[in-house]
Order: sequence, then C-alpha cells, then structure tokens
Amino acid sequence: MRNRVISGKTRVCGIIGDPIEHSMSPAIHNAAFEKMEIDYLYVPFRVKKEALGKAIAGMRALNIRGLSITIPHKVAVIPFLDELDPLAERIGAVNTIVNDDGVLRGYNTDATGFLQALLERGVKPEGKNMVILGAGGASRAISFILAERGAHLVILNRLLELDWAEELASRISQIFTKEVEALELNEENLAKVLEKADIVVNATSVGMSPNIDETPIPAKLLKPGLIVFDIVYNPIKTRLLREAEAAGAKTISGVDMLVWQGALAFEKWTGLKAPVKLMREEAIKGLQEHEN
Ligand code: ATR
Repeated sequence: MRNRVISGKTRVCGIIGDPIEHSMSPAIHNAAFEKMEIDYLYVPFRVKKEALGKAIAGMRALNIRGLSITIPHKVAVIPFLDELDPLAERIGAVNTIVNDDGVLRGYNTDATGFLQALLERGVKPEGKNMVILGAGGASRAISFILAERGAHLVILNRLLELDWAEELASRISQIFTKEVEALELNEENLAKVLEKADIVVNATSVGMSPNIDETPIPAKLLKPGLIVFDIVYNPIKTRLLREAEAAGAKTISGVDMLVWQGALAFEKWTGLKAPVKLMREEAIKGLQEHEN
C-alpha cells in the first residue's frame, strides 16, 4: 500500500458501476496521479441501478471532481447531467463526467479512446472498410466515431438481436447520410464482408474470461493485411488475437482502448497530459494478476 497523504485539498475522482471490484481503473488512475505528482485520489463505488440518481446527487454534494461510469449506468446516467458533449449525445451513452463548480458534463471517451488506440497504431479510419461485430453499448460508441471519421461500416450481430444492429445502422446512416449495412453474424456473412475489409473490430463479449476458448471469427477467415481489433481485454491476448497474429494479420488489443479511454478522462479532470505509458503498464500488471 502506498503511504500517501490525503488532505483537505485532495480532489476526489472515482468510478461507479455494479459490479466494480474487478475494475482496473482505480489502479490505473491512482498510479497516474502519483506519477504526475498531483493531489488527486480515485475510488471505486459500487452503485446499484436504483441508486444512480442519488449517486450523481452525491457527486454534486460532495464536490467530486470526476467520475467514470461503467456497466450498467452508461445510458441511464444521462438525465442526471447538466450538459452533454455532442458525441456522447449522439452515441446516447456517457462513460466520463466532469464536475466544473457544480455543472456536470458527460463525455464518451470509449469512443475517442478507441479512435486514439487506432491512430496510435498508425491506422486512419477515413475511407476504410470496417466490419464491426456486435451492436451493444461498446459497438455503438465505436460505430458512431468511425462513421464520423468517414469509415465505411458493416455491423454484424447474432440473429437474436439483429434488430439492434439494424437500428444502429439506420441511425448512423441517417445522421451521416451514408449507407451502413447490418447483417447477421454467421460464417457465411463473415466470409463475404471480410473479403473486402481493411479492419475488423470485435465489439462483442465473445472470448472474454472465463470463455477464453471462444472466438467470434473462424481462424481460416483471417489473413495478412487485415487489421484485427479486439476490444476484449481480459485475457490480454484473446484467442481471436492469437489466431489473427498467426495468420499474419495486424492486431490491436482491447488494453489499448481501456488505457486510452482512461487517459482521455484523466486529461479532462486534471487538464494535464496523461502518462499513457505508465497507465498501460499498470493496466497490464493488474490484468496479469487477474489472469493468474
Ligand atoms: P458492451 O457494453 O460491452 O457492448 P453489451 O451492450 O451487453 O456490452 O453488448 C455485448 C455485445 O456482444 C452484443 O452485441 C451481444 O449480442 P446481442 O445483442 O445479441 O446480445 C454480443 N454478444 C454477447 N455474447 C455473444 C455471443 N455468444 N455471440 C455473439 N454475440 C454475442
């Protein structure tokens, strides 16, 4: 345990969600605050669905500087905020709140963090053919920012919830006046769309611990030249990423998105450039401890 001093001047940030005990965010942010030698503290709060409004009222009352928002509150938190960043408004989900003297503003750094992770690897979405697997919360954030940056999108979701994929695709098509296709997630459609794809993003939970032997894409459909981004970060190297690597594809790990969404939140709360390298090391250390 670090022996740091908490004083009357310490600014408090935190994360609300349920469950929360396995979150990597407290370790990542506290390490970043310490590295930058700023008097901030980051704490986890387990907040049940029905207590969300009270938790946000508490943020105001206690003058908490910033909050990260995670499952299941990213959509439900919106009515309790004063202002929304335009991208968060379009996506319809918030993962970061900044409290400026009692005015609460919501952002979506899942989207900007995903984009930053791509750009960091030298991948520019403009004009690229991108295939997104899944149509849940993470897919929404990713699809909107990619459409905004001029990528061509195909969204695949399992039959069960195909309506969601269609709704998402049609909303994006309307807003950006460009065609977005929605298809059922199956091997035949995957083979068809991956033929033309530059980048494929797994935004489903397939392959996430404890189901680490699952993969959303059969290995035979992976090829050199394809960029495979798996937003699952637990395990750090999913079966999809291992098979993509073996097929000669370029891979980007969900750890990158985890780190960048945190780094961009850090910058909003502190006004400082985030120590991204350290935050990545801290995330990997925490995830490895979790894996063992
Ligand atoms: P998140 O916030 O991480 O995006 P989510 O909103 O629950 O979480 O979305 C999870 C996504 O993974 C959904 O698209 C889900 O598909 P459904 O909409 O059909 O539920 C997808 N998903 C989860 N398990 C899956 C599986 N076994 N096969 C295919 N897709 C799966």
